[in-house]
Amino acid sequence: MEPSDDPTLAPAAKPKRSGRSKPAARRVIAIGGGKGGIGKSLVSANLGIALARRGASVVLLDADLGGANLHTCLGVPQPPRSLSDFVAKRVDRLEDVLAPTGIERLQLASGAMDELDAANPKHSQKNKLLRHLKALDVDYVLLDLGAGTSFNVLDFFLAADTGLVVLLPEPTSIENAYRFIKAAFFRRLQLHAPDEGFEQLIAQALAPRDGAGMATPWEAAEHLRQTSPEAAAQFEQILAGFHPLLVVNQARTRADYDVGSTVAAAWKKFFGLDLGYLGAIAHDDAVWQAVRARRPLLELSPDGPAAQALLRVAENLIAWER
Ligand SMILES: Nc1ncnc2c1ncn2[C@@H]1O[C@H](COP(=O)(O)OP(=O)(O)O)[C@@H](O)[C@H]1O
Ligand SMILES: [Mg+2]
Repeated sequence: MEPSDDPTLAPAAKPKRSGRSKPAARRVIAIGGGKGGIGKSLVSANLGIALARRGASVVLLDADLGGANLHTCLGVPQPPRSLSDFVAKRVDRLEDVLAPTGIERLQLASGAMDELDAANPKHSQKNKLLRHLKALDVDYVLLDLGAGTSFNVLDFFLAADTGLVVLLPEPTSIENAYRFIKAAFFRRLQLHAPDEGFEQLIAQALAPRDGAGMATPWEAAEHLRQTSPEAAAQFEQILAGFHPLLVVNQARTRADYDVGSTVAAAWKKFFGLDLGYLGAIAHDDAVWQAVRARRPLLELSPDGPAAQALLRVAENLIAWER
């Protein structure tokens, strides 16, 4: 299949955005997807390069605490310092842990956090780190997340301004993506619940009624409005701020390129939430060849189908962010 056949060339339909405030030029973008080996690091590294080439300053944070290998995708050694050094105050500023990548305007940071309970640092510690990350004087901070749906992963995903979910065009991977997005949604609900009663109210509103299946969150909000308009409004705000964007990786057939739209439509139908679709990346031998050569894909094979698709994903992301 030729890249020109890609039906995702046009930017994804833009879901309505809530009126959340955002820092002027600074965006934090998380790249997740629940599973390992699906291309999160491929997307992170090459999106970072694409954004830097367009003139943006970018920090890539390797937040895959168990399997940090973003440096290999970029062809540089592991950064000598990590977030640990900042958390333990061995360095004063977060800037001090940033390492060059050999690519102009693109820096790499290791997310290793030995000083914290690495598997699950306290929420307050994560928040503090995230505040510092958001305060970095760069245009983009990209978080390459680890596998799984632990609170650690989900909290970084949710703290970002935009969350990308990478999936493969296979039923198992699509299921994992659903699971990841659902887990992120319920974690968001938990984190934003104003009090303990709130979550219970929502659970009741979501529960199946009159022989029907589980209510969609928007139906639940509607239902809740009758008894508790204030809780309904809070719930709607939580819903409105949740817009994961899909990236399909390793597309091989024409149908694979439609998977993102199909998944987004199914999610809308059954769960009532808007997902964006940034595009599909072709399966391309140049990807694993680049990893073996320890060179970034966009440098080793800039004209290949995967690199070209990644550039389009970057353009679609920028269009969505605007
Ligand atoms: N589009 C692709 N075409 C061919 N191989 C790919 C593609 N995307 C990923 N791969 C293979 O999968 C491996 C894992 O990708 P990676 O980005 O490291 O996944 P993750 O970060 O999700 O664990 C790569 O090293 C490469 O061999
Ligand atoms: Mg990875």
